[in-house]
Amino acid sequence: MTTISLITGGSRGLGRNTALSIARRGGDVVFTYRSRREEADALVAEIGALGRTAVALALDTGEVASFAPFAERLRTALRESWGRETFDHLVNNAGHGDYAAIAETTEAQFDGLFDVHVKGVFFLTQALLPLLADGGRIVNLSSGLTRMAHPGFAAYAAAKGAVEVLSVYMARELGARGIAVNTVAPGAIETDFGGGAVRDNAELNRSFAQATALGRVGVPDDIGPMIASLLSPDNRWVNAQRIEVSGGQGL
Ligand SMILES: NC(=O)c1ccc[n+]([C@@H]2O[C@H](COP(=O)([O-])OP(=O)(O)OC[C@H]3O[C@@H](n4cnc5c(N)ncnc54)[C@H](OP(=O)(O)O)[C@@H]3O)[C@@H](O)[C@H]2O)c1
Repeated sequence: MTTISLITGGSRGLGRNTALSIARRGGDVVFTYRSRREEADALVAEIGALGRTAVALALDTGEVASFAPFAERLRTALRESWGRETFDHLVNNAGHGDYAAIAETTEAQFDGLFDVHVKGVFFLTQALLPLLADGGRIVNLSSGLTRMAHPGFAAYAAAKGAVEVLSVYMARELGARGIAVNTVAPGAIETDFGGGAVRDNAELNRSFAQATALGRVGVPDDIGPMIASLLSPDNRWVNAQRIEVSGGQGL
């Protein structure tokens, strides 16, 4: 049976690449977008051209009150597009960066990061548990910044650290249903993230590249196929792990 993977934040960057990588391996996809409807429609068409089915649903992962109605929209989409009551993989990917030194971080910046990266991941997963198939998988996105301390990322990295702990607890509690949960922690990747700084700021790009064993920063193609392969049956016994995907950054 074809698998159905739900990816949050699929309209751009790593989520988009993950959705395409899963489709290239023969999986179907539901992905969410927050604001960029046109990008979402383009991705649905691109996955359709690969011969796979994709559905795009709007979602703000910082709005916990929207998760119950979102679960109902997902239930309807699963029935209408696949005749199914469940999906197989949840990839909690959506998120933003907010760069500020500890001395300058505002409460609003801190809350914005924790609302999306921690509270959103916790309660969206909770809301979707009845729809996630037994034997399914969850992948939560963290960051290399939980291991390497870069000034300006304290609140962001603390939120991602919480996600890593949460992943282990999810694995422990959901193991009874055969659900494996892992964290993927990318290094610096060229996307729109953080205003596109890794991609567009030549000095930053060079400094991350020099700090990486493989001698460059990452691109989305370094991450999406890895997540797609992690979700394949080949990796069914990998559970409760933090897997850093950074080309060997900050060794
Ligand atoms: N790029 C890196 O260097 C890097 C490194 C380590 C970890 N990560 C993590 O990887 C994940 C993806 O990052 P990326 O590089 O792909 O970023 P990106 O290119 O900026 O894309 C972010 C995606 O998340 C969505 N999104 C952001 N905030 C959202 C919210 N509140 N509700 C719903 N959707 C939201 C965006 O939707 P719209 O398009 O609709 O706005 C977009 O699809 C994030 O969790 C990030 O923390 C990134």
